[in-house]
Order: sequence, then structure tokens, then C-alpha cells
Amino acid sequence: MKNLIIYYSRRGQNYVSGSIKNLAKGNAELITEFIQNAVDADVFEVDTVKPYNKDYMVCIEEARAELRAKARPELKHKLDDISAYGNIFIVGPNWWGIYPMAMYTQLEALDVTGKNVHYVVTHEGSGLGGVSKTLSASCKGAKIGKSLAVHGGSAPSSKAEVENWAKKAVG
Ligand SMILES: Cc1cc2nc3c(=O)[nH]c(=O)nc-3n(C[C@H](O)[C@H](O)[C@H](O)COP(=O)(O)O)c2cc1C
Repeated sequence: MKNLIIYYSRRGQNYVSGSIKNLAKGNAELITEFIQNAVDADVFEVDTVKPYNKDYMVCIEEARAELRAKARPELKHKLDDISAYGNIFIVGPNWWGIYPMAMYTQLEALDVTGKNVHYVVTHEGSGLGGVSKTLSASCKGAKIGKSLAVHGGSAPSSKAEVENWAKKAVG
């Protein structure tokens, strides 16, 4: 069975270790590349029709409003058939405690029954937050496997750790 990575990542302005930085590549995007190299996975990017504001401070308010509204933002492309895959890696940032709402738009549209789901959360201090809980709720019937929290500022130097983790996850 093949491996699949479903990720969301936001390039540009982000808060890293106490200050606003401009990231050419998002942290979850970087982690996705590490996993892809380690286990030879196909990759699907979750992306919203409506872009988030480039300004970090505006974006966090947009995200908070979506969280409060339990929004399911519309996606540019939606994956619908994952029957070829056995292991599904979910990779995304911690936004106010859980994945960006767009991730749930995608996950709720999939039949993950019997799949092994492993997940990574990039963050600035909150770790996995409430992701374990929301993932179980949106991946009904899946076998939730290994998790990994990666501090955003450490993402570039996490290659070996992420690769080892991913290899163990697929067994
Ligand atoms: C809208 C928004 C909300 C965030 N909320 C949190 C949070 O609640 N806790 C936390 O530790 N980090 C939070 N962060 C920081 C991100 O989780 C962190 O920078 C992560 O590495 C970003 O990954 P990315 O570059 O792949 O998007 C937030 C960032 C954004 C843009």
C-alpha cells in the first residue's frame, strides 16, 4: 500500500521564537518534504479558495473567527479517493489549538476507514494542542498512529528526527 501526505502550510509572515519572520517555505511544508524523502509518499496540499491575509496579525484574527464559527473553508482542490493508500500522514500548523479549519474540510470528505493515520503539528509553543481529539473525530474508523509536534523555529533542523519518526510510523 502506498503512502500519502496531506498537508497545509502558510508561507510568508509568521511568528517565530518571539518575532515576525518571513518564511519562504512554510514549516509544515518543510516537514512534508522530509517525510516524503523518508518514505516515498504522494503529496496533497490543502489550499483555500479564499487566501488568508499576508499580514500575520490579521491572519490570526481571520483564523480565530473561522474557529469560532466552526467554518469549513472551501478548497481549491479536494481529494476524494484515497483507496490506494495505507498510511496517511497529516501535517499542518497549530492554529489556535487545532489544525486550520481547511484541514477538516478535507479530512471530513475522505473515507479513512482502516487507514493508518499519523500526524505532525508545527507550533510556536502549544505542541499538539487539541489536534489528537479533533483528528479522531474527523477520521472515523481510522487507526490513529504516531504523532509528532515540531517547534516551527526548529523545523529546518528537524530532518533526521522527522525521517526516523516517519520510517517508524510506516513500520
Ligand atoms: C493563524 C495562526 C494561529 C496560530 N496559533 C498558534 C497557537 O495557538 N499555538 C501555537 O503554538 N502556535 C500558533 N501559531 C504558530 C504556528 O503554529 C507556527 O508558526 C507553525 O510553525 C506554522 O507552520 P506553517 O509555516 O507550516 O504554517 C499560529 C499561527 C497562525 C498563522
